Amino acid sequence: QAGLETDILGKDIRHFMELESTNDYAKTIAKDTTEGTVVVAEVQKKGRGRRGFDWVSPHGGVWISIVLKPSIVSADASRLTLVGGLAVVDSLKSIGLTPSLKWPNDVLVNGKKICGILTEMEAEIDRVEYIVLGMGINLNFNTEMLPEEIRDGSTTISDELGTYVDRLEFVRSLLYNLEQYYVHFKTQPFEELMERWIDSSDTIGRKVRIVTPSKMVDGRAIGISPSGGLLLQKNNGSTEEILSGRCIYI
Ligand code: BTN
Repeated sequence: QAGLETDILGKDIRHFMELESTNDYAKTIAKDTTEGTVVVAEVQKKGRGRRGFDWVSPHGGVWISIVLKPSIVSADASRLTLVGGLAVVDSLKSIGLTPSLKWPNDVLVNGKKICGILTEMEAEIDRVEYIVLGMGINLNFNTEMLPEEIRDGSTTISDELGTYVDRLEFVRSLLYNLEQYYVHFKTQPFEELMERWIDSSDTIGRKVRIVTPSKMVDGRAIGISPSGGLLLQKNNGSTEEILSGRCIYI
């Protein structure tokens, strides 16, 4: 189907011309669908970003959500965000770009955001029932399509390359790479993927400000914790694990 080279991902593909949000749709079918179901829309009317922000999703982009059912505890769910980032990085490299990962969920090219990842889950007690891994990749459209507030900090693949990219081919590559990393994730210790993530990241080693709903803390990003959090060396010398939050380079 769709010429995919995958065994798990994309056995069931739900394609829409328009959806409010692929993550929202995926969550409504997740319980009753097989692992690897892919939801993809040409346009999202109410695409969602992290922290309740809108995610502007015009024609030409890749707005995609994947239902995963790994046997993990909910505390480890954010590892999947890192896994998704690794797959996007490989697909971007294969079309000649030089991407970097910004903790927790951004993929940047030339310091500008080209992809955002929104991982959502449902858990029973603390076992994950399903994860919806939502990825928004700015592919074939001009940055001008984006609202002014985010235009300067964002970019698109076609703007970076100066040409359009075959969208189906890109999605095939993304699902292929994601499957490789996902199988690795399920069968091998997470440390290797963590190291890989750090290798592709421009966050580690930087001075950052972390903003959470309850606090703001400055320090140096020194690593990734086993559950996918950021290890922050604070200005007073102590180290803190940040499980989620907004990361600003300072
Ligand atoms: C972020 O950087 O804030 C995360 C953006 C995630 C956007 C994707 S697009 C496909 C999926 N459906 C959504 O509504 N959001 C995610």
